[in-house]
Amino acid sequence: MKLNIITALSLVTLMMSCGQPVNKEKEEDKKVEEKKEPSAIDVIMNRRSIRSYKPEQIKDNELNTILECGVNAPSALNLQSWEIRVIQNPEILKKIEGSFHNAPTLIVIASAADNFFSPVDCGLLGQNILLAAESMDIGTCVLGNFTAFLNSPEGADVFKSLELSEGYKPLYSIAVGYKNERPEAKPRDKGKIKIIK
Ligand SMILES: Cc1cc2nc3c(=O)[nH]c(=O)nc-3n(C[C@H](O)[C@H](O)[C@H](O)COP(=O)(O)O)c2cc1C
Repeated sequence: MKLNIITALSLVTLMMSCGQPVNKEKEEDKKVEEKKEPSAIDVIMNRRSIRSYKPEQIKDNELNTILECGVNAPSALNLQSWEIRVIQNPEILKKIEGSFHNAPTLIVIASAADNFFSPVDCGLLGQNILLAAESMDIGTCVLGNFTAFLNSPEGADVFKSLELSEGYKPLYSIAVGYKNERPEAKPRDKGKIKIIK
């Protein structure tokens, strides 16, 4: 009788220990699947303009990655006809509160006035910034209206603090920060595409 109980217990233990690794493996697989990096297409399709941010600043290594990706954009003749200013100074940000959706980081992109392709270079730089940020689930919003502020008498102080080189003018800016909203995609007009074969 005693022997039978021991045998039964051993059998139960054996069954439990046999089942465990299989379940564990399945769970590990699930975790790997969940953590799967988004593809470039996922990143492009998921990016949206974010107009509400958490107050917490993004990490320096995240900012560095975003900027590194930015300057790796193509540019005509590799002239890199841009200057980039990153504003994280709370005093400066306070002066422009409201005009950039209160993001904790603001990137100002200035184009070279004497370079015909500079707006293209700057646009490609910016798109790399948007997509690099999105790949880390960091929100961005392109700001055209901030340029008008920088060129207005009220924006003169902030403009000066950018210390842009001679011949460079602010073209547009990008608000950057952790997302506080997840807006739906706006409709796109595919009628603007024509494939000529
Ligand atoms: C050159 C340019 C200027 C823009 N200026 C502003 C702006 O001043 N304020 C703002 O909230 N969004 C601005 N946007 C964001 C657009 O409104 C947004 O990209 C568009 O509505 C499509 O939405 P999505 O980015 O979420 O796909 C600008 C976008 C571009 C490309």
